[in-house]
Amino acid sequence: SFLEVVMNQNINIDGFGACEGTLACSTCHLIFQEDVFQRLGAIGDDELDMLDLAFGLTNTSRLGCQVH
Ligand code: FES
Repeated sequence: SFLEVVMNQNINIDGFGACEGTLACSTCHLIFQEDVFQRLGAIGDDELDMLDLAFGLTNTSRLGCQVH
């Protein structure tokens, strides 16, 4: 997942991926460009629920740990 990429690269984003991909936070919220967003896999119900809590939600928002 995108979260793993961030972790593996040791990219230091403050608080990013706090729940380590267990869909219990929204700190991995990402906003994609429209064309990229369209190519991502489907959003699951659990992701949608958590995404609702994300700060600054947009039409092309995803949770990074759920994007593969
Ligand atoms: Fe917590 Fe993605 S890391 S929901």
